[in-house]
Amino acid sequence: MSDERDLEPDCELVGIVAVADNDVIGKDGDMPWHIPADLQHFKKTTIDHPVIMGRVTYEGILEALGEPLPGRTTIVLTSRDLETPENAVVATDLEAALEAAERAARERHDTDRVFVAGGATVYEQFLSALDRLVVTEVHDDPDGDTRFPTWGRESFREVWRDERDGFAFVEYARRERMD
Ligand SMILES: NC(=O)c1ccc[n+]([C@@H]2O[C@H](COP(=O)([O-])OP(=O)(O)OC[C@H]3O[C@@H](n4cnc5c(N)ncnc54)[C@H](OP(=O)(O)O)[C@@H]3O)[C@@H](O)[C@H]2O)c1
Repeated sequence: MSDERDLEPDCELVGIVAVADNDVIGKDGDMPWHIPADLQHFKKTTIDHPVIMGRVTYEGILEALGEPLPGRTTIVLTSRDLETPENAVVATDLEAALEAAERAARERHDTDRVFVAGGATVYEQFLSALDRLVVTEVHDDPDGDTRFPTWGRESFREVWRDERDGFAFVEYARRERMD
């Protein structure tokens, strides 16, 4: 796997995750909770953008929806030779994923923003290159098998928070990259 320190994004790179108080993000290939408002928030935030994700997360979405995320271009990181529909692209390393995402951002979505949507292996590799992190903080300690990696929280500043019942939508911006 590539070294994330080599990444030099030309886009705004934004991580998006729902994470519990105990850092759990996944269980048995799925999310450990069902929060419809969070699914709506994810859709509203990512619609008409490229979204980079790992193969396990991609397969979970295919199982749930029967297709890749509609209205977005999915870039699937995998070493496998996957066949994908028209709105999904396979990338075999981080640089290729970023390149494909930036091309889709320019040519299909007319944006300079690319989302990194997990799972844990993918967050970990992109963390140091993220400009922003859109986090749903789930106020619970669920069982799970996948955790959000340790992130340099001190390198980010909270810029927005919307507290709901049992969870909060929060946005963090990297300190040295803030305007
Ligand atoms: N709570 C949330 O917001 C959230 C968001 C996303 C996912 N999740 C959860 O997280 C879990 C999945 O996460 P995960 O960490 O197990 O898996 P993942 O990151 O989704 O996928 C891992 C796979 O991605 C591929 N991959 C990763 N880095 C690569 C690289 N540099 N080059 C080539 N391929 C690469 C590999 O696929 P191959 O094995 O095919 O080579 C690897 O096995 C699920 O439970 C999911 O529901 C939660």
